[in-house]
Amino acid sequence: MNDTTPDPLPVGFRDVDATAPDKIIRCLDSLQSMAAGRAYKARALDLLGLEPGASALDVACGLGDDVVKMKARGVRAVGVDRSRTLIAAAQSRHAGSGCEFNVADAADLPFADCSFEAVRIDRSLQHIPDPGRIVLEMARVARRDSVVLCAEPDWGTFLIGGRHSAVTERIQHDWIRTFQNPWIGRELSSLLADAGVGDIRQEGFWLPTHGFAESDLLFEIDANARDLSVELPEALPWLDAYRRGEAYAGVLMLICWGRKH
Ligand SMILES: C[S@@+](CC[C@H](N)C(=O)[O-])C[C@H]1O[C@@H](n2cnc3c(N)ncnc32)[C@H](O)[C@@H]1O
Repeated sequence: MNDTTPDPLPVGFRDVDATAPDKIIRCLDSLQSMAAGRAYKARALDLLGLEPGASALDVACGLGDDVVKMKARGVRAVGVDRSRTLIAAAQSRHAGSGCEFNVADAADLPFADCSFEAVRIDRSLQHIPDPGRIVLEMARVARRDSVVLCAEPDWGTFLIGGRHSAVTERIQHDWIRTFQNPWIGRELSSLLADAGVGDIRQEGFWLPTHGFAESDLLFEIDANARDLSVELPEALPWLDAYRRGEAYAGVLMLICWGRKH
């Protein structure tokens, strides 16, 4: 990758304000519009067990769509994110929704202990250094017996469709390496237990993409194959064949939740 190549998406998500926000916003919007994305998010929302009058926090809320869905359950709904760009977009998109959006670092949440009846994070621990500290913060601001929930992919399950080939293996591998915490999905239950959360459960949801445009938007297949072609020229014909074929890819999303002791 040279100096003018934009950061891979997983690097951009670590500091959205220092990267090209259009690409980030397109990626976030596309997942909200995919059936599989909506399905796991709907399940995660149900698992929060929100009762009218309660208060709920979405840590690293991005564009705030999940905060609006929590609000629709009659709760005080708060979203925080470290990106000023995304919080400004959330405030403008959801003006009048009654949701609260604030810029804050997940490692240092600006709330007193035991402030919320439900605390969640979605697809963000994969990008943040020291995820154990974030989960501890989430548990700190959750009330006793309230739900603490994390939904994250495990990139050890990532696959690009098609027959086995060394190029596919390498593109998968190079993509996985761009994540701060590629195996976060399988780490969630230990992180919750270490933060004092009990009665821990988990469910898995397959998150597939279909067709080149969708697979490329979420998994940057084109850029990865082109980068690789500097070292392995066969990556370019591979990319051509992938583009003309079914162009399927996918990853397992894990939802892991429990109640604060
Ligand atoms: C893939 S997005 C997920 C956004 C949202 N939860 C969703 O499901 O659409 C990852 C988010 O983590 C945020 N983020 C990264 N590091 C953070 C930190 N240290 N504290 C708070 N938010 C952070 C990014 O700004 C981005 O909005």
